[in-house]
Amino acid sequence: VTDDGAGGRTIRVGGPAPYDVVVGHGVAERLPALLPDAATVALVSAGPIEQLTGRLDDTLTAAGHRVVRVDVPAGERGKTLDAAAALWNAFSQVPLTRSDAVVAVGGGATTDLAGFAAATWLRGVRIVHVPTTLLGMVDAAVGGKTAINTAAGKNLVGAFHPPAGVLVDLEVLSTLPVAEWVNGLAEVVKAGFVADPVILDVLEKDLAAARQPGGPGTRELVERSIQMKADVVGADLRETGPREVLNYGHTLGHAIERVERFRWPHGHAVSVGLVFAAALGRADGRLDDATADRHRTVLEALGLPTTYPAGAWPELLEAMRVDKKARADRLRFVVLDGLARPGILEAPEQSLLDKAFAEVAA
Ligand SMILES: NC(=O)c1ccc[n+]([C@@H]2O[C@H](COP(=O)([O-])OP(=O)(O)OC[C@H]3O[C@@H](n4cnc5c(N)ncnc54)[C@H](O)[C@@H]3O)[C@@H](O)[C@H]2O)c1
Repeated sequence: VTDDGAGGRTIRVGGPAPYDVVVGHGVAERLPALLPDAATVALVSAGPIEQLTGRLDDTLTAAGHRVVRVDVPAGERGKTLDAAAALWNAFSQVPLTRSDAVVAVGGGATTDLAGFAAATWLRGVRIVHVPTTLLGMVDAAVGGKTAINTAAGKNLVGAFHPPAGVLVDLEVLSTLPVAEWVNGLAEVVKAGFVADPVILDVLEKDLAAARQPGGPGTRELVERSIQMKADVVGADLRETGPREVLNYGHTLGHAIERVERFRWPHGHAVSVGLVFAAALGRADGRLDDATADRHRTVLEALGLPTTYPAGAWPELLEAMRVDKKARADRLRFVVLDGLARPGILEAPEQSLLDKAFAEVAA
């Protein structure tokens, strides 16, 4: 992390197409610097974030860009093929050329949709993400994965399209509903356990305060979580190796999302998945009791669920076997060999899985 001396900090994401993530309060004016020489900018936004979108529009216009605003439906309703087609149409009317750029302002659903449209329009135009939810900031906007949902399932159609930059203005969190904030905290906790335990220390300093959007420590939590993701995706954009650690808690988490037909918030599913993954590590004799128990304690105190109905276990097992990240039908889990020491558990015995599920079964 480098401090720019004017309230903004920059985290570099490496890899084949490196880019910067700028984090700070009131950093909207930094947007033009992330888009040098884009004559026209399609400013795509969704949801109740008009104030920020307006500021970005003014800033870009003042910097000499031609700005065309495009609204898309907020949330998952926007992650459809129809919404992508509407964006392609809007881009053609702008018209948006290869030397122009897209700026996406909104939650993870919006940056995923706009990212996918930008990845496919003219086979790829530049995009800068301006995430406005905690989940968007620490996860969706960083890493270059984009996707839409189709009849085949969630996030099965997409592209790797790293952004040209990411602008994280923490001020926008002041309007975020508590439920959306808490949902994003699951990924923050994950980052703490797989890579950066200081995140856990910051949360544990005052767990009640940590439940409130934008409370003290927000900046540190966001920066550290982004740094963790930047380190991983910088080394492995296409998920062929080290990026797998980001999947901690997600194998059961994805299964819960499927069984719940995607009506459960992602963070809730991941939260149960994290407690399960910790239990697997413990049951396999890798993870000490204190670290395993710490998962449940932290997540519960933050208001995230840590149990799931016992009767759903057969269905969850089945769902895990068809997860897009399973290899053939061998189950593979990211587990911990200790705090911030991720490892892989492949094809565990059924008895081990049962024992771990017993820890989350309600
Ligand atoms: N590409 C990736 O690597 C990646 C990673 C994680 C998640 N995702 C995707 O991200 C999506 C979830 O993202 P999300 O949790 O940000 O949800 P979201 O985009 O659905 O936004 C949630 C809600 O919050 C509202 N909102 C956004 N910012 C706000 C603000 N500042 N104040 C008030 N309301 C605001 C939105 O309008 C929406 O109604 C999922 O589709 C998921 O698949 C992608």
